[in-house]
Amino acid sequence: MITMSLRTQSSLDVTEEELQKISAEANRLVFEYLTTISERPVRAENHAGKTTELIDAELSAEGVPLEQLLNECRKIMDLSRHNGHPRFFGYVASPSTPIGAYGDLIASALNANITCWRSGPAGTEVERMVVRWLGSLINYDSDAKGLLTSGGSMANMIALLVANRRKSDTAVSRRGLWNSGPPMTVYASSEVHLSIAKAADILGFGHDYVREIACDERQRMRVDLLREKIEADRREGLRPFCVVASAGTVNTGVVDLLSEIAAVAGEFDLWFHVDGAYGAPGILDERKKHLFAGLELADSVSLDPHKWLYVPVDAGCLLFRDDSAAKATFSTEEADYIKTHGYVDEEAFAFWDYGIELSRRFRALKVWLTLQYYGSRRIAEAISEDISLAKYLGEVVSSAADFELLAPVELSICCFRYIPRDETDLDKLNERIMERVQKGGRAYLSNATVNGHFALRACITNFRTTKNDIDQTIAAVREAAEDLTQRRKGTT
Ligand SMILES: Cc1ncc(COP(=O)(O)O)c(C=O)c1O
Repeated sequence: MITMSLRTQSSLDVTEEELQKISAEANRLVFEYLTTISERPVRAENHAGKTTELIDAELSAEGVPLEQLLNECRKIMDLSRHNGHPRFFGYVASPSTPIGAYGDLIASALNANITCWRSGPAGTEVERMVVRWLGSLINYDSDAKGLLTSGGSMANMIALLVANRRKSDTAVSRRGLWNSGPPMTVYASSEVHLSIAKAADILGFGHDYVREIACDERQRMRVDLLREKIEADRREGLRPFCVVASAGTVNTGVVDLLSEIAAVAGEFDLWFHVDGAYGAPGILDERKKHLFAGLELADSVSLDPHKWLYVPVDAGCLLFRDDSAAKATFSTEEADYIKTHGYVDEEAFAFWDYGIELSRRFRALKVWLTLQYYGSRRIAEAISEDISLAKYLGEVVSSAADFELLAPVELSICCFRYIPRDETDLDKLNERIMERVQKGGRAYLSNATVNGHFALRACITNFRTTKNDIDQTIAAVREAAEDLTQRRKGTT
């Protein structure tokens, strides 16, 4: 006999009235944020622990009223760094489009799990469509295969794994790398993103076996040195398997010589991966198309919609021209719960054949909504404008006596430094300027090392930025520098 009481109605659902309240109040908060973001300081006055002090830090057993929770959300938003601010130029972060943000809401409400067609039939079709669009947008392949990922690091890691499995002993997935023979090597420039070395570490190749190829004076991989290194490693009995080229390096935004690198990869039968996580959408600017010649020869390309396609985090993408190596890497029939019994062809399609994750968010919806709402022409225009603004910043710093441009502006990154006449330790000074500018809240720059110098780095992937924001940023740097000079004089 059953003695416990069994649920007779839904337990966590709310009434329609409450649902309307949640939706209206949350919408109000989003509206308030998106309409005031440009007036906020880029970064709030903050210190570690302040958020914890200002919101309820005790886990509630009985629940907290909606009004209080949304007020606490407001505080969390206030204490955040606003990557969508028109003068946010740090790292590679873009504002999200409003439609993209609502895309995330719709996807979460649906809560589809995009493991395979069976699990998320509509979402799977949208993701495959978006993957093909991304392939064609960047002139890679209009029938590209692949998947959306959490970001560029995950896309790069999957690419390295697939590249490796194509060349390694077929038994490696059962017996592990240690039984598979001499070390296998990857080649990338000294400017490649850290996610490549990290992936090599995680995957067990070892990051010493990511051969760092020196760059030319424009920070592009030296193709002559690439060939030399591959030949030297082969002579040593090592097993080269992959070359990674960058299409938009994280430091200065340069694009490696893709066609030449593709030729070397072909000559030695290596997988050719292009990390275009940041820069690949730069191809949409007619003035920059020539830089990407050879991208279409890649075996795989990383491209992050959450970087330069203005989609909210998280949305990375890995594209393959031919998916057979990916399928050979990931396909498994070992667990009953992932067999697609009774499904044929397209309906048996599964993203677990392409990557690491099993449960996956419906990331494609926000990418699809963003691309369709604006259309590819407007997105391309926003990217071109970012490139023009970076060029403008480059011109301003080149022509000013108190600034120096430290690297050519190839896409939308400008690296420069402040050079007063009487300062000897320019690295230290510029580091302090950056800290001051960041804390000041008027603009936000990050840093890079360029030819051994500390550079102030502005990465403009920001559709809100205008010429006036660039001028204000330069003014903020000068003010910070003058302030530091005054302070120093005051103490001497
Ligand atoms: C060129 C490049 N590759 C990879 C990544 C890593 O991307 P994510 O942070 O999305 O993992 C970045 C991040 O800035 C990048 O600029």
